[in-house]
Amino acid sequence: MSPARVRGAEDRLRDLPNARACVGNALSLPFEADSFDLVFSRFLMEYLPEKPHAVQEMARVCKRGGKLLLQDLDGQLVWHYPEDADLQNTTERILSRLAGTGLTPL
Ligand SMILES: C[S@@+](CC[C@H](N)C(=O)[O-])C[C@H]1O[C@@H](n2cnc3c(N)ncnc32)[C@H](O)[C@@H]1O
Repeated sequence: MSPARVRGAEDRLRDLPNARACVGNALSLPFEADSFDLVFSRFLMEYLPEKPHAVQEMARVCKRGGKLLLQDLDGQLVWHYPEDADLQNTTERILSRLAGTGLTPL
């Protein structure tokens, strides 16, 4: 939504002829339905009070059978989806040790 950030993206995309950057609101994306094979959002949801609305918008512009990828922070990077048993076990062991130091990550 920030013109300054979009200008930065335009600079980085200069050598990619099939890529472009544009200003838009995640709650009302400036694209037609079923437009993209992949819709990717990173570090955005934490800023939006209307998260489900934004996800619905992303699903709207994603083609049927396409992929919607949301990447965001949960404070201490404790939760992962799709779930990975090894990663979750390791995370819980680390949190358990850290809890002994007084850390409350959640
Ligand atoms: C932490 S930055 C992340 C930028 C980039 N996605 C990245 O991963 O580097 C958060 C961005 O969310 C944008 N933003 C906040 N609310 C928005 C909205 N309703 N629609 C679109 N972008 C929004 C801000 O302009 C800002 O550029």
